[in-house]
Amino acid sequence: MELTRPLNNGRRIRVVEGDITRIPVDAMANAANAMLAGGGGVDGAIHRAGGPSLMEELDAMRASVAPLAAGGAVATGAGALPAKFVIHAVGPVWGGGEEGEPEELASCYRECLRLAEERECRSVSFPAISTGVYGYPKQKAAPVAIGAVLDFLSTEARSVEEVVFVLFGAEDFREYAALLGSALY
Ligand code: APR
Repeated sequence: MELTRPLNNGRRIRVVEGDITRIPVDAMANAANAMLAGGGGVDGAIHRAGGPSLMEELDAMRASVAPLAAGGAVATGAGALPAKFVIHAVGPVWGGGEEGEPEELASCYRECLRLAEERECRSVSFPAISTGVYGYPKQKAAPVAIGAVLDFLSTEARSVEEVVFVLFGAEDFREYAALLGSALY
């Protein structure tokens, strides 16, 4: 399943149901942890599909950047993935919503897009950061993710022409598709 929403400045948002590691883009965002240590979920899938070079690069930078605060991100090459870069973002752990989680989640999306712009990427994909192990309720995370991306594409974007939200499962896909259908831009 797939849906494309053009923005009136020529940029666009795509929503795709599937495995993020299979979808070709310039920069693929990852839902990482503060120590950039790898893990399960989409992080595990990205490291498995990308191969050992991703972790080698993270190992080399860990001492200078980790622990990364929630909302932060770092970029590596993409190894065997169909991308030029992987941008490892650290989402907030859900603690009820009153501890700055929405701001930190929005920051993940902005930081990834900023790092993608620095690398002159044209397309960037995102998983639903924080909505797995980190427990951020999916219906609450979706408008934050879409809002941050819409805002960036409408104001700051230069090289980035397309953002792809890759949702794991039909229910998540429908949530994003419905929100994008109703978003005013
Ligand atoms: N493609 C796209 N989305 C995926 C994939 C995949 N291959 N695999 C899982 N997902 C989805 C999950 O369904 C969830 O909605 O990614 C979303 C984020 O879930 P997690 O991967 O658990 O990420 P997060 O909640 O941010 O937790 C991060 O988990 O794996 C560890 O190292 C990671 O400690 C960190 C924590």
